[in-house]
Amino acid sequence: MIKGSTKVIALLGDPVEHSISPEMQNAALEKKKLDFVYVAFKVPEKYVEESIKGIKSLGLKGANVTIPHKSAVMKYLDELDEISQKIGAVNTINEENGKLKGYNTDGKGALRALRRKIGEIRGKEVLILGAGGAARAIAFTLIESGANLKISNRTETKANDLAAELKDKTGKSVTQIPQKSRELENSIKESDILINSTSVGMHPKTDETIVDSEMMHSNLTVMDIVYNPLKTLLLREADKAGAKTISGIEMLIQQGAESFEIWTGKKAPINVMRDYAIKAMERR
Ligand code: ATR
Repeated sequence: MIKGSTKVIALLGDPVEHSISPEMQNAALEKKKLDFVYVAFKVPEKYVEESIKGIKSLGLKGANVTIPHKSAVMKYLDELDEISQKIGAVNTINEENGKLKGYNTDGKGALRALRRKIGEIRGKEVLILGAGGAARAIAFTLIESGANLKISNRTETKANDLAAELKDKTGKSVTQIPQKSRELENSIKESDILINSTSVGMHPKTDETIVDSEMMHSNLTVMDIVYNPLKTLLLREADKAGAKTISGIEMLIQQGAESFEIWTGKKAPINVMRDYAIKAMERR
C-alpha cells in the first residue's frame, strides 16, 4: 500500500509506456515488503535537467534512466561511479546522503547473466557484435572483469573508435573483426562467448541474424541483447549448433536486480523479477 512514508523510484525516459521495469521492480519491492514504489515518467529532452532537480526537490530515492537520456543526465548528477564514467552513460541514480550518484548497471546485467550460466568469465574469449551504446556498456564491464574482447560492427570505423577508447581507458587491446562471414566464422571458432549487442533480430524483423548455426560450435555461449522476441533467430540458430543460450530478457532482469540492490541495499528477489518480466513481455 502507498503511504505517507513511501519512497518513489522513477523511470525517466521517452518513451516509457512499454517498459517492463515497473512491473518487474514493483513485484520485487512488494516481495521484499519494502516501502518503495517504482513509477514511469515520460520525460521530453527539454525537461531532463528539471527531472533530475525534481528527484532532489521531491525527495525521490532514485531512478532508472533509459533511452534517450542516459548520457544527458550525467552532467546534472553530484557523483558518478567509475564504470558509468568510462561508458559515458548512466542508467541508475541513487540518493546517498543528500547527493545524487549515477551508476551504469547495463554491463553488470550482462556480466551477471553470463556468470549465472557459465560461472567465471575472467580469461574467456568474447566476441561482441555491434559498437553502439549497449555494446559500449557490455564491452567496458566485461573487459574490467578480465575477459578478452573482439568487436565486430557493420560500420568498421565505429568498431575501431570503440576499440581505441577501450584501450585508452582500460589499457587492454581489443581486436576489430570485419563483419563478413569468413572473418566472423574464424573468430567465432576461437571464442567462448558471442554477444549480439545490435538490434538485429528485434521485432518486427525477427527473421534476421548476423550469425547462423553453421558458424557456431557446441562450446559456445550465445547471448542476445534483443528480448523481443524472447527467443531470437540468433538464439534458435545457437540451439541448432548445440551452443548454450542467454536471452536478452535475462540481461534486463539482471541489470534490474543490480539497480534494485543499489536503491534498497537488499538482495534482489531474482526469481520474482524473472517471473514478472517474462509475464510482462508475454502480455505485450
Ligand atoms: P544501442 O544504443 O541500442 O546500442 P545504437 O547506438 O543505435 O543502439 O547501435 C545499434 C548497433 O546495431 C550498431 O552497432 C549498428 O551498427 P552500425 O554502427 O553499423 O550502424 C548495429 N546494427 C543495426 N542494424 C544492423 C544491421 N542490419 N546489421 C548489422 N548491424 C546493425
